Amino acid sequence: MINELAFNPNQPHIPVMLNEVLSFLKPQANEIYFDGTFGAGGYSSAILQSCNCQVYAVDQDHTVDKFVKKLQENFPKNFHFAYAKFSQVKEVLRSFAVEQVDGVVLDIGVSSMQFDEKIRGFSFDSHDKLDMRMNQNQELSAFEVVNNFSEEQLSEIIYKFGDEPKAKKIARKITTQRCKQTITSCCELADIVRSLYVGYYKTDPATRTFQALRIYVNNELEELSQALKNSLEILKSGGRMVVVTFHSLEDKIVKDFFREKSGYFKGQSRYLPDLNPVLNIELKLLNKSAIEPSDLEVKRNPRSRCAKLRSVVKL
Ligand SMILES: C[S@@+](CC[C@H](N)C(=O)[O-])C[C@H]1O[C@@H](n2cnc3c(N)ncnc32)[C@H](O)[C@@H]1O
Repeated sequence: MINELAFNPNQPHIPVMLNEVLSFLKPQANEIYFDGTFGAGGYSSAILQSCNCQVYAVDQDHTVDKFVKKLQENFPKNFHFAYAKFSQVKEVLRSFAVEQVDGVVLDIGVSSMQFDEKIRGFSFDSHDKLDMRMNQNQELSAFEVVNNFSEEQLSEIIYKFGDEPKAKKIARKITTQRCKQTITSCCELADIVRSLYVGYYKTDPATRTFQALRIYVNNELEELSQALKNSLEILKSGGRMVVVTFHSLEDKIVKDFFREKSGYFKGQSRYLPDLNPVLNIELKLLNKSAIEPSDLEVKRNPRSRCAKLRSVVKL
């Protein structure tokens, strides 16, 4: 089993549900795959090891460089990489003179490297500057949002992307505090949020605010929607798309997109005649409900615990 062989707790990023990803992607010799979230290359590497195929990968984070080089050395004729956003899948493939692919894989969210390197400013126990940019060339960072956005904007972001019940209070406290002193570090912000919660919480109360800022700074939900739409366009008939997400906002986007393109409608009873036929059904669901990691995987890699995998085949 590739997962067993590949499982190494010392890896900088442990690929999540690798066996399941491969079982739905079904890599085959001479086929072409797009990995939109290269990270430490866990998926790309496993696909390349499984057969003599071509993998085109992107990542927007330039610090993945050393992992890219390693795969380029190991698979000089089969691995191709570009620094880009996954929503740009069509342009990237065109630059390699590739029109269509047999499979797309997306592993949405932050890598362990990004989270663990405190200087990247993603983690609420970091004393470093609030940052949260996956792409270091981007201008907007969490620092700008926290220190320059209006109270209303902050409240909306924290509520919409963090589902935070105290979004208004948090936004008010941030704006009050920053009048006294610029909010510079991650832990300063985390303490502001925590100060509005009393008692013990299993999950750190700052989690939702940090998630919201990260999603906003990296435009994550819009990126995902665009990537799904564009990936569908470059997928061959019979091609597979496998997407792994880590929170409900992302999973809902994937679920709704896959269901809509497969002819399922929200709230439609299967006992009723087809009231709203989709004339253009493009996908077939490979798994009707999301697949979650096994207990063993969660035990070995607790960061995998919220993962959900959905996959489709193009008709
Ligand atoms: C969860 S990690 C992927 C890990 C990878 N599957 C592995 O096994 O090593 C997500 C990666 O996707 C990248 N990423 C996130 N959003 C992106 C986007 N819109 N375009 C390109 N890369 C993105 C992040 O920088 C990060 O490196």
